[in-house]
Amino acid sequence: MTDDHHEDCEALHRIFLQSGVRRILDLGCGDGRHLVYFARLGYQMYGQDISPTAVELAQAWLAGESLSADLAAGDMTRILWPDSAFEAVLCIQAINHHRVREIRRTIEEIRHSLRNGGFLFLTVGIDRPLRPDAPKAIEVEPRTYVPTEGHEKGVPHHEFTMAELLHEFRRFSVRDDLMPVHKDKNEYTCLLLQKTTESPP
Ligand SMILES: C[S@@+](CC[C@H](N)C(=O)[O-])C[C@H]1O[C@@H](n2cnc3c(N)ncnc32)[C@H](O)[C@@H]1O
Repeated sequence: MTDDHHEDCEALHRIFLQSGVRRILDLGCGDGRHLVYFARLGYQMYGQDISPTAVELAQAWLAGESLSADLAAGDMTRILWPDSAFEAVLCIQAINHHRVREIRRTIEEIRHSLRNGGFLFLTVGIDRPLRPDAPKAIEVEPRTYVPTEGHEKGVPHHEFTMAELLHEFRRFSVRDDLMPVHKDKNEYTCLLLQKTTESPP
């Protein structure tokens, strides 16, 4: 467990405070570093991860700090809480762990789970150069790589282009005015999106 929360958390807290955000879903929460960070600040936290082990670790970490959150194990293509349950969703280094068809399903699920005007903080890999130490992988569709070795063997990794990302999230608005689109220290592109109510053309 690492306490090194994402570098944008302080900025997100300021935005969430101003916008009256209370309930936050951390989708692909891992062992819970952002659940703990935001629960300490008094938000009502919810977490979902495909790994039951990650959920157990998150639960133990929260309990150790006398904090609580509603956690569940499950694939992000089906969010396990009712529609409009959240004012914000965090999806940090997680949505790319699928093929495009499932990513689209996940985006729809996130939209349904957010109230109108709700925020999505997203970090994704965009056009990153292949690392020399990257495990061997096969490209199963354009820019979706499935490692054939290493601890992420069999887990898809989709690398977006910016045009593709904006297209897939076209039913959200990019709140560049609140948080400029930028890269974090791990070279993930970070965006603050907001659920819009109008239908796309
Ligand atoms: C790189 S970790 C990031 C964890 C956490 N967001 C953080 O920043 O510490 C990716 C997480 O996504 C989870 N994950 C991968 N595929 C998933 C899926 N289909 N549904 C839900 N969670 C998934 C993994 O189990 C892992 O915990």
